[in-house]
Amino acid sequence: MRRKFVAGNWKMNLNVAKARALAEGLQAKIAPGVPVDLAVFPPFTMLSAVGEALKGSAIKLGAQNCYFEAEGAFTGEVAPGMLVDVGCELVLIGHSERRHILGETNAMLKKKIVAALAAGLKVIYCVGEKLDEREAGRTEAVLHQQIHEVLGPDISLSSVVIAYEPVWAIGTGKTATPDQAQEAHAYIRREIGTLYNGKAAETLRIQYGGSVKASNARELMSQPDVDGALVGGASLKVEEFVGIIEGAAAAR
Ligand code: 13P
Repeated sequence: MRRKFVAGNWKMNLNVAKARALAEGLQAKIAPGVPVDLAVFPPFTMLSAVGEALKGSAIKLGAQNCYFEAEGAFTGEVAPGMLVDVGCELVLIGHSERRHILGETNAMLKKKIVAALAAGLKVIYCVGEKLDEREAGRTEAVLHQQIHEVLGPDISLSSVVIAYEPVWAIGTGKTATPDQAQEAHAYIRREIGTLYNGKAAETLRIQYGGSVKASNARELMSQPDVDGALVGGASLKVEEFVGIIEGAAAAR
């Protein structure tokens, strides 16, 4: 049985004071001992303050991106070891906004995952198709490429979670139906089985992301291959995010 994992991607929002308040609000409202793994991903400038606010809590700290070199002349980039240094345990790699707005390629993402794991971080690797790709019937082809060009025997999956985030469902209010999510998750798990082995596929956690709210969380996470949620907008509101965590805990 895979334990559910709910994570909040705060994207480019808040400031230090608001981020600290959100972290404290979550700590106060999340039931102690809730059987769900939890993490938040604040912007870089808020990592230290949020890390301080979360000390002693079950909520893990993660960053939204990192570079693939350990140090050097890479102006504006942040190394995986620097994230560990400020208390991060996780990093998001390959979010669709980084792929499609910032131009990150599968080749870069592979290097980032290798570097992040080498620094001791856990990785949430994001995959997902765009609307035109889904409409052209290319969803599985896109996922296939995002999996096979990035993962493989040189990357151990023991510290990797995959997030399936259909780009057309991100920030649009359009959620994938539970059936659409299940279908994509089952495909991803099958491909991991092919690329690695049955055990790796069975233990891998696959989160769904794209307009997850308290009202749809339980049904989505009740699908057999949906092991959690990567939440954007709704993770900025304490009540909504807590509702999503409760949905995960209640999912069957
Ligand atoms: P929304 O929940 O705002 O649709 O964003 C999803 C997402 O991109 C999480 O990484």
